[in-house]
Amino acid sequence: MKTVLKKISEHKQAYYSLPLFLYMRDSSRTEEERLAFYPCMAHFTLSFGDLNKYILREEPATDVCQQRVNLHTYEDDHHWLWYLEDFSKLGFDHLCSPTTWMRFLWSEETRKTRILTYQLVALISKASAIERLAIIEAIEETGNVLFNTMLDLSKAIESRSGIELRYCGEFHFGLESGHSVGSDHIEIAEIPLDESTQANCLFLVEKVFELFEDWTHELLSHAKGGHTLVRIHL
Ligand SMILES: [Fe+2]
Repeated sequence: MKTVLKKISEHKQAYYSLPLFLYMRDSSRTEEERLAFYPCMAHFTLSFGDLNKYILREEPATDVCQQRVNLHTYEDDHHWLWYLEDFSKLGFDHLCSPTTWMRFLWSEETRKTRILTYQLVALISKASAIERLAIIEAIEETGNVLFNTMLDLSKAIESRSGIELRYCGEFHFGLESGHSVGSDHIEIAEIPLDESTQANCLFLVEKVFELFEDWTHELLSHAKGGHTLVRIHL
């Protein structure tokens, strides 16, 4: 699995420099502007809980790899609750009517956010337990870039407004870093792969990064576009 993790790390380097993250690090803009895509993440962020519970997890696990997959799903299946908590704290609860909000979530403007979930489900459904581990590792690294970049924005908002953001801030980032760089990670690197499994894992990793990259472009266009649903009011 070492080769697969090396490929993930290469993809992560490129992912880190995508236009969305450059925009989020652009200190000439306010933190609110740089976080203005937050409501657009809703469909995927909430679906990610279900993806962990109902797609990735298989119980009882029949091998060690699926046990690891299951363990990850228990770590990640409830983070969407903190997303909602920050959604409310950032002032998005009273932006529009529930029907307007649902129309937005299922609109063409946010289609990549939904497609991300659907495509991940398609990949995971056909993947073996070891291939699922490769998918999880790739997803975690995309998350690490996003949460690491959100962390600074969150700290600035917290120090100015006194509002603690648990999804965007230290609380979530600490947990995510904890389980992706711990001993678990080292053990995964040592899993031997035959040639065809390695090729499948490399293909899946590439596909995962491609899907997430597509998603970041949609988020960026919302942040820049100043859609009425994406204005933060603190
Ligand atoms: Fe998370």
